[in-house]
Amino acid sequence: MRMEFQSTAEIVLPKDPLEWVIGQENAVRIARICASQKRHILLVGAPGTGKSMVARALSSLLPKPKCELSVLHNPARPEKPTLSVRSGEMLKNEKPKEFGTVLLPGEVPEFVSEQLGMRCRRCGGLSHSRIPSCPHCGADKVRRPILGLAGPEHAHRNFVEAVRMRKDGSEEMIIYERTDDDRIRMLTEKELKDRKDYEAKLMRKVIVPLNRSTFVQVVGNNETELLGDVRHDPYGGHPEIGMQPYMRVVAGAVHEAHEGVLFVDEMATLGETQRFLLTAMQEKKFSITGRNPNSAGAAVRVENVPCDFILVGAMNINDLGKLSPALRSRIRGSGYEVLLNTNMEDTPENCAKVAQFVAQEIKGDGKIPHASSAAVDEILEESRRICRAADGKKGLTLRFRNLSGLIRLAGDLAKSEKAELIEKVHVRSAVQFAKSAEEQLEDKYENPWSAGMADFGVRSRKGSETV
Ligand SMILES: Nc1ncnc2c1ncn2[C@@H]1O[C@H](COP(=O)(O)OP(=O)(O)OP(=O)(O)O)[C@@H](O)[C@H]1O
Ligand SMILES: [Mg+2]
Repeated sequence: MRMEFQSTAEIVLPKDPLEWVIGQENAVRIARICASQKRHILLVGAPGTGKSMVARALSSLLPKPKCELSVLHNPARPEKPTLSVRSGEMLKNEKPKEFGTVLLPGEVPEFVSEQLGMRCRRCGGLSHSRIPSCPHCGADKVRRPILGLAGPEHAHRNFVEAVRMRKDGSEEMIIYERTDDDRIRMLTEKELKDRKDYEAKLMRKVIVPLNRSTFVQVVGNNETELLGDVRHDPYGGHPEIGMQPYMRVVAGAVHEAHEGVLFVDEMATLGETQRFLLTAMQEKKFSITGRNPNSAGAAVRVENVPCDFILVGAMNINDLGKLSPALRSRIRGSGYEVLLNTNMEDTPENCAKVAQFVAQEIKGDGKIPHASSAAVDEILEESRRICRAADGKKGLTLRFRNLSGLIRLAGDLAKSEKAELIEKVHVRSAVQFAKSAEEQLEDKYENPWSAGMADFGVRSRKGSETV
């Protein structure tokens, strides 16, 4: 076929990542609906046809997450940390609360500024607490220990306690503490208590940050990865030596995918965990608790952590039977099931799409040169061959992973020869190189049995017997 370009460098690639998905028009159309309508989608199809690609592209259509999820220390019941959901707006406007009155060193009693290292004991001159000797008279501001001269350089105190008379004649305790910018904060007993309560509330762990990806992938049956966990603490969360329960809470993939896509690859391998996934999808929230019953984490629980995600499941058609009927009906009830194509018609438009695919792969790889139009022709030939072999019909294959490997190999060969472009000859050599061990075996020995290849334990492509 005559291509309308000299090399794939001339092909302009689309901006929309879903337009990079070739030959799966139905899946792409439905993925767009899922992104705008927040529906789930189950992608069923052969390996390397674009399931992961569709899932990733779908997630890129979603708006940025709007809220952050965190857990707070609950002083009354530490094993029940409090959930906090804060919007980006709230986070922007949040300023730490200030307590007490900030004063200048000249505004507090002299003994206070002296002890805080801001006033010279000899001349009374004021200076920064970090300057060890008075800039006015040269005296040492720090009282060194009498025995041993090697006292700490800045042995000033960070705070000073004092007693002050109230108007009614009673006494009250006052704390003066040095601030980061070398001023003095004065706190009454009540202000001190209020600050302590406030700080207890501030003991926070962000478990799902605001600035996160809208794409979260899980593979295989790992309950803790999917649903979250509370880590074990050998000291059982002891207030002094242990780690407080809220610090040990870990979000699951269902929570991380809140407001985004949860991509469950090879759904069938989820096994028993499918029922939890179903609950999370139904409720749009899922409590986090320690999943190991023998661990101190099992006693900790954060209720109703949001998990409002779009589920994109992927699986091979042979595994459909392993999917729980309840989960499957949930997906179909509020989403779609799509079977991916394995081939497309051999038309000029589709050949141009394969050329686009070649350009995409080269760009994605970043290390190989572009391909000449003759090389693309040869890749099309290979695409037809794979289609005949895998699907037993004429057409162009959509099992792109095989072609992707071929392009990389041809690119490496071209690069090793310092060629400017991938040429037909590189693709031809790559086809030979890219053969599987079984194919190489068959090429070498017409009948592997006669060559005593039984020990290889591989399957013959011609027969079904193990050779
Ligand atoms: N429809 C497609 N259009 C363009 N490129 C594709 C397509 N399908 C696959 N590819 C290429 O092949 C690579 C593998 O595809 P992908 O991982 O999406 O396949 P998959 O269906 O998820 O396979 P598996 O079942 O093995 O997980 C992609 O990174 C992409 O380079
Ligand atoms: Mg995949």
